Amino acid sequence: MTTQAKSDKDRVVIFDTTLRDGEQCPGATMTHDEKLEVAELLDDMGVDIIEAGFPIASEGDFAAVHEIATRSKNAVICGLSRAAFKDIDRCAEAIKPAKRKRIHTFLSTSPVHMKYKLQKEPHEVFEMVISQVTRARSHTDDVEWSAEDATRTEHDFLCRCVEAAIKAGATTINIPDTVGYTVPEEYFKLIAMLRERVPNSDQARFSVHCHNDLGMAVANSLAGVNAGARQIECTVNGIGERAGNAALEEVVMAMNVRNDVLPYWTGIDATMLTRASKLVSAATSFPVQFNKAIVGRNAFAHESGIHQDGMLKHTQTYEIMTPETVGVKQTSLVMGKHSGRHAFVHKLEELGYKLAANQLEDAFVRFKALADRKKQIYDEDIEALVDEEIAHAQDRVKLVSLSVIAGTRGPQRATMKLDIEGRSAIEECDGNGPVDAIFNCIKALVPHEAKLELYQVHAVTEGTDAQAEVSVRLAGEGRSVTARGADPDTLVASAKAYLGALNKLMVRRQRGGVAVSEGRLHSTEVG
Ligand code: KIV
Ligand code: ZN
Repeated sequence: MTTQAKSDKDRVVIFDTTLRDGEQCPGATMTHDEKLEVAELLDDMGVDIIEAGFPIASEGDFAAVHEIATRSKNAVICGLSRAAFKDIDRCAEAIKPAKRKRIHTFLSTSPVHMKYKLQKEPHEVFEMVISQVTRARSHTDDVEWSAEDATRTEHDFLCRCVEAAIKAGATTINIPDTVGYTVPEEYFKLIAMLRERVPNSDQARFSVHCHNDLGMAVANSLAGVNAGARQIECTVNGIGERAGNAALEEVVMAMNVRNDVLPYWTGIDATMLTRASKLVSAATSFPVQFNKAIVGRNAFAHESGIHQDGMLKHTQTYEIMTPETVGVKQTSLVMGKHSGRHAFVHKLEELGYKLAANQLEDAFVRFKALADRKKQIYDEDIEALVDEEIAHAQDRVKLVSLSVIAGTRGPQRATMKLDIEGRSAIEECDGNGPVDAIFNCIKALVPHEAKLELYQVHAVTEGTDAQAEVSVRLAGEGRSVTARGADPDTLVASAKAYLGALNKLMVRRQRGGVAVSEGRLHSTEVG
């Protein structure tokens, strides 16, 4: 990173949409409390604008945006709304308590969206742009207007809509690559064209919002900045619709590390990037790809002999940034069965966790149990254990015990005891393999119609005593949720992951998105 003087014209505003575009993607649902925790961290990290949700979407979304607005410190709190006045008014109500608030209102402008999705003629869309922005401006003077599917919009029409939106009072103009279709050169030209051709373009800040369908979201966003955009919309870990959005940590570090060719700056404290990544991964149960840029667990790992040799001679041989710059701590504290509570708390702090007293107690008991079974405890083991503790603290269905008979003889049989909202229930089931037997027990104890979409096992660390981490994705009613379970016993981890996903579906059902159907659980809820 260079140390050139920072000028206002090079300041890039970071608009985080982890809680809106990120949370709306299949399986990434967060609970109310998880959203608050993520928002607090984003605010502390220096995110300029937090898009906290889509208030009209559900009571749960409204409540989360409202609470985030109430607790906000420095960040502008933003809510999303379609063009309808009731959407905009609901959004205004949700963000009302924030010190600084923004309404983000959007409308499709591409021929394919106008014809098939909106079923409206361009002149009707044009009038709607004016009325939606005017309505939003009646609530706040910070209004963002997005031309949905802008990269597939006819240029003359886009210029007219952008001009009209600015005239009606939009202070930020967002040019989304909604379907992740553009390429850097083309996107650069689009932003440059708008800034040049729209007569009042100097009265608004241009923003980029790129999806990653072709793997170019970050490159496209940076090309947009090179063309004069000064706001990047992005998400932690790049989560978002389909292939996701531009990853916050990647755009920030690209500008930090290559400031010689990307001479821009942000207000982000990059040393918090790893913490943010871990928190969002734990809250959404979306694992971070091992080789993910900046925050993947291999991002600073060197395995090959040649690389290790180079690193020992000089770290810059194979590292373009130090782990510390993104908050990866190099620590010498080795955890094991002799470690006490104090060391455990210290380790948690180092890893960026802040647990409530009861969660800490539970996590410590589970850490001791793990240390009795496993020779070496790595940071990843502790992270898996604590992430699970956080993710499952509110669970209504909990695993009490599990025993499995497996082997060549068959049939494989599982005996499972669950705590279902304080009531104990036990079941014994056969299956086509031990995992099938376990899942059959869960289905017998908690009848539901959700379908298993994904079952994936990987080891958290090395060795035969490594903790297994299992991911399970369940789908119901066109939506899906993913959860993880970790345990040195793969079968226990499988049960935990399945139950984790089921618990998430129940949370979703409470918020009105149903997936767990009739059956014993339903009746205990009523009774
Ligand atoms: O991708 C998109 O077009 C969006 C808009 C709502 C900004 O997310
Ligand atoms: Zn989007």
